[in-house]
Amino acid sequence: MCPPAYFTVKYAINPWMDTTSPVDADLAGKQWERLRETLVELGHRVHVLTPQAGLPDMVYAANGAFSVDGTVYGARFRYPQRAAEAAAHQAFYAIQDEPGWRFVAPTEINEGEGDFTYVPGPGLILAGYGFRTEPTAHAEAQEVLGRPVISLRLVDPRFYHLDMALAPLDDTTIAYYPAAFSASSQAVLRQLFPDAVLASEPDALAFGLNLVSDGRNVVLSSEATALADRLAAAGYLPRLVELTELKKGGGSVKCCVAELRS
Ligand code: ARG
Repeated sequence: MCPPAYFTVKYAINPWMDTTSPVDADLAGKQWERLRETLVELGHRVHVLTPQAGLPDMVYAANGAFSVDGTVYGARFRYPQRAAEAAAHQAFYAIQDEPGWRFVAPTEINEGEGDFTYVPGPGLILAGYGFRTEPTAHAEAQEVLGRPVISLRLVDPRFYHLDMALAPLDDTTIAYYPAAFSASSQAVLRQLFPDAVLASEPDALAFGLNLVSDGRNVVLSSEATALADRLAAAGYLPRLVELTELKKGGGSVKCCVAELRS
């Protein structure tokens, strides 16, 4: 995670960002800290990346890389405003002694865990394209990581990253909002995940799918109450966190958390 020390909305690269609506920096910091504490309380180890002045979106740490089996596939951002974030993430992996990450720099445009996620049971990488990550990066990720990549086309600009529309809940189960995907990609998801938890449009608009799950505890936006109820009914433990300020940049829980898959 990377604290929102320099977070602000001074450019707009997704439909949620409005440069005229003010951000409460103090509140953003408090909300972020509460998210960090929640993960620690749940028994997770949180590494903190040093924020950099001039990189207001660096708080969305999920976009900086994607790791599976100890290999890190680096990010290459679509927009110049975020380009310099990639090097900060690369440096982070270089200084970690454990487990000794193998870092591979990308040639293709991709925004890390924004558009890539991993389902451990079947050993599948799910990858989004249409707004940020190039489909050519999906093939590159498969070569780098040696796991099958399922390409999914995103069609609604409000859900410009895969992690706005889909999230793994445990080793074999995912949650997603079908209408964020093309009809063919919806068919692929139905085939692979017939038992998925389906989210509604209000759930998705509340950033409910931008969640982090450890297989039991599901940390998600406090605005996504209907999805939280559905997850509880399915046997998960929803943990609601308020991230209203970071929503103004177009992100929530998952965007703030880069998962380290050794
Ligand atoms: N303002 C950032 C951008 O548009 C938000 C990134 C959100 N992160 C995510 N993983 N969806 O790039």
